[in-house]
Amino acid sequence: MIKGTIEFPGDKSISHRALMIASISSETSQIKNLSNGQDVLSTKKCLEQCGISINGSKNSYQIRGGKFADPEKDLDCQNSGTTVRLLTGLLAGKNINARLIGDESLSKRPMERIVKPLSKMGLQIKSNDGKLPISIKDSRINGIDYKNTMSSAQVKSAVLLCGLGTTDTTSYYEPIKSRNHTEIMLKNIGVDIEHNNGKIILRNSNSLIKGLDITIPGDPSTASFFAAAALILPKSELILKNILANPTRFGFFDALVKMDANIEYLSSWNDSGEEVKNIKIKYGPLNAIKIDHMHIPGMIDEIPILSIVASQANGKTEIRGAKELRVKESDRIQAIVHNLRNMGVLIEEHNDGFSIFGPVKLKGSKIKTFNDHRIAMAFSIAGLIADGETVLDNKKCVDVSFPNFFNMLQSNIK
Ligand code: S3P
Repeated sequence: MIKGTIEFPGDKSISHRALMIASISSETSQIKNLSNGQDVLSTKKCLEQCGISINGSKNSYQIRGGKFADPEKDLDCQNSGTTVRLLTGLLAGKNINARLIGDESLSKRPMERIVKPLSKMGLQIKSNDGKLPISIKDSRINGIDYKNTMSSAQVKSAVLLCGLGTTDTTSYYEPIKSRNHTEIMLKNIGVDIEHNNGKIILRNSNSLIKGLDITIPGDPSTASFFAAAALILPKSELILKNILANPTRFGFFDALVKMDANIEYLSSWNDSGEEVKNIKIKYGPLNAIKIDHMHIPGMIDEIPILSIVASQANGKTEIRGAKELRVKESDRIQAIVHNLRNMGVLIEEHNDGFSIFGPVKLKGSKIKTFNDHRIAMAFSIAGLIADGETVLDNKKCVDVSFPNFFNMLQSNIK
């Protein structure tokens, strides 16, 4: 069983944005409980290479922003899609010349989605046929009225951050609302930004940009692995404290409630425009669920662990409209199907998702992580209820979002 009260490092998405948005204010910003994952460290290093001064230690930092300079070397975003996509927009708005690169996985991921709107904003940007490396040149940025056909918080944020580099108005439409941390944070520092009927409108009036003072709530994506462990390990009971519960990020927990999971929200509050909750979660029977494209953006990063939960639920769980999973840190549909099949689960692969028939007694197996942190963590949780041994081909990749994953799991298993 798993038992205890757990608090997590700050949300990864908010951590990236806090560093970037603090860097545009010439006032000193204070950030506490920053994620200590490698992805966020990549953002920090890249900003430092661009002349931003970031001081502090542990998870607490002070930032003096305002003045950007061209980096002398390539900006290495390593495994982090959020770093490369948001930073390209931010630096474009700051008239920086830079070349952005990444590791093997990031170098395979699609970048055309940011190249297109940013070019329309006047940015001179060159990619390697829609992939990394990306080079950007100091350009005169103009506003844009952009209607995206896909929902991506990374693309939306790249456009909005670039839009800070012009006094024109920038507006952006997305079909299903994606995570809105950039909009919330920009509003908090005094930027004129509003959400109106699915459209975000940023009027950049060169108003004074205040410093940020933020304590980042716990990462719900990291918490989801522990919540899943509590649901599927008999006799478990966990309290997850200070978890970010922004509705655009809470799709996993909402799905668990629909699966009749034993979840109680002990308290909820608002911190700087973000909802936060303490959550109690207990072992108990689960029922299958059907998830369609409307619900995908709110749970996109949690689908690997949801697939493990679904393997223990009664009936057929079907997840559709999730084609984006194929272009994450790995092809996550393929990774889920491959590994769950090896563990003895009846699973059908679709081009945009999968169907799982549960409940199944899992067999321990060799897990192919595809060097993807979320696949590694999801299948470590599956291993807890499997007969026999479950061995990951790469444990180290969890460092991308949560270096303390195995220690924290170990110390709460009784
Ligand atoms: C993120 C947005 C999502 C998500 C990623 C983090 C962000 O990606 O999957 O892990 O912080 O903006 P997309 O924008 O590609 O949907």
